[in-house]
Amino acid sequence: MTAGRALFISLEGIDGSGKSTQARRLAEHMRARGRDPVLTREPGGAPGAEEIRRLLVEGDPARWSPETEILLFTAARRDHLERTIRPALAAGRDVVTDRFADSTRVYQGATRGDLRGLVDEIHAAAIGVEPDLTLILDMDPEVALERGLARASGEDRFEEFGLPFQEKLRAGFLALARGAPERCVVIDASEDPDTVARHVCEAVNARL
Ligand code: TMP
Repeated sequence: MTAGRALFISLEGIDGSGKSTQARRLAEHMRARGRDPVLTREPGGAPGAEEIRRLLVEGDPARWSPETEILLFTAARRDHLERTIRPALAAGRDVVTDRFADSTRVYQGATRGDLRGLVDEIHAAAIGVEPDLTLILDMDPEVALERGLARASGEDRFEEFGLPFQEKLRAGFLALARGAPERCVVIDASEDPDTVARHVCEAVNARL
């Protein structure tokens, strides 16, 4: 999706990989370069989608089947797209989102059985767009999980699935990056936050 010069950028990665901090720092960097990005997140990014978020990230890990999760995440994404992403791009503003469809491809499509076909069908029918650039923050799941649970945000339904789940996620994100090298840049997120931020900004500057 390229509307004029406005860029649609997503940050992806396992839980605790530092995406939210890096998304915020990237938006600050873009503002310093005279751009006017909308910083947003998934699930959420619009009032209705934020309501759906609570259903997904809180409570018992077994609360939803992966198939039901695909539908709920896609419903939230559709609302986010209609109310936040499309209007921003149409107004010429860049969009920086903390997660987008790659999270569904990996969390729902590649961890608890192979549901990638279903994810792709529903994505094609209801969403149908990809970011211009996806930054995949890659790190050791053991370290990331400690960070994630240490935050005790009450939004740890997916962290509760444990380390093997996070290892599958990491492998899933790296496989996605290999399959879409023109869109995805893998960034080593185990470095200190300033170094990670520099690598994120360099990847984005190359597209501005
Ligand atoms: P966050 O912690 O990055 O805000 O994301 C909330 C949780 O939702 C996180 O554990 C990843 C999960 N998630 C999915 O499982 N599928 C999705 O499509 C999205 C956007 C998030």
